[in-house]
Amino acid sequence: MSAEPRSPLPPRNAAAVPAPRLAPSRPAVARDDFTDFCDGVRRICGIDLSQYKRAQMERRVRTFVERQGSPDLAEYLRRIQKDKAELGDFLDRVTINVSQLWRNPDQWTRLERTVLPELFEQRRALNAWSAGCSYGAEAYTLAALSRAVAAKVGGAGGGANYRIEITGTDIDRRIVERARKGTFTADDARDAPSALLQRFFEPAGEGTWTARAELRPLVRFEAADLLRIPARKEQYDLVLCRNTVIYFTDDVRDALHAKLVASLRPGGYLVVGSTERVAHTTALGLVPAFPFTYRKEA
Ligand SMILES: C[S@@+](CC[C@H](N)C(=O)[O-])C[C@H]1O[C@@H](n2cnc3c(N)ncnc32)[C@H](O)[C@@H]1O
Repeated sequence: MSAEPRSPLPPRNAAAVPAPRLAPSRPAVARDDFTDFCDGVRRICGIDLSQYKRAQMERRVRTFVERQGSPDLAEYLRRIQKDKAELGDFLDRVTINVSQLWRNPDQWTRLERTVLPELFEQRRALNAWSAGCSYGAEAYTLAALSRAVAAKVGGAGGGANYRIEITGTDIDRRIVERARKGTFTADDARDAPSALLQRFFEPAGEGTWTARAELRPLVRFEAADLLRIPARKEQYDLVLCRNTVIYFTDDVRDALHAKLVASLRPGGYLVVGSTERVAHTTALGLVPAFPFTYRKEA
């Protein structure tokens, strides 16, 4: 994550979640050194660690602080207040940026065979959001697959006139800068189908792959905190939010899902990670369509 200072938090009730009954309530929390530390981090950089599952987050934080040679959380807080590089290292530790091209290949196969052809049939365009995009592997995989599907279903023109726009957002500014480079390691490419990998990415030395020029205009990346940005009302045909909410408390996860659904146009799809599920689907107007894939009712 970036060590850039962020703007002050909006008032706590300002999260623009369209389903108030799903908005996270904040029960009184017993104060201790960890809650004080979370408050301090929020003041320094705007990231609210209290929204993540406490047991996991606390373990990560305490292990890291100890490894950095700090005697306690209060001392470490003073350190990251003064030392931007240390704050950057700390934030890198608390977010988990693991990703890869074609991660969970079954999900991509379903998108390729069913969801993308259907969406292209409706609009000849795709406006998609990779929410929690890390270094861009998900957004670039979607760009490659969308271009391939558009070519298949696009008739004589080969889908060249189909408009494809993919926005990736992540809270971590440094990872967003890396995403903009569009370069991936051999390990990132380990599950990528060879024909599509070679068609849309080119070798860039030492086993790395970089997105070909054809893909680059299709993707853009923004640094944004999913918990603080307002819903992008009915803007997207497809939202991918995979392997990002697993660290959030259940209330925060549910409120975020509501926000993502509000950002989908009716008939659009939400895809979650292969160990995740969306709660309250009926209240959100979602219908399970495929495993880990929901359609917003039209
Ligand atoms: C494990 S990666 C998932 C990447 C990709 N979606 C995938 O499945 O391969 C989770 C990402 O969520 C980002 N993240 C965590 N909290 C976030 C928040 N509040 N807003 C935006 N991104 C967040 C992290 O920085 C990290 O890059």
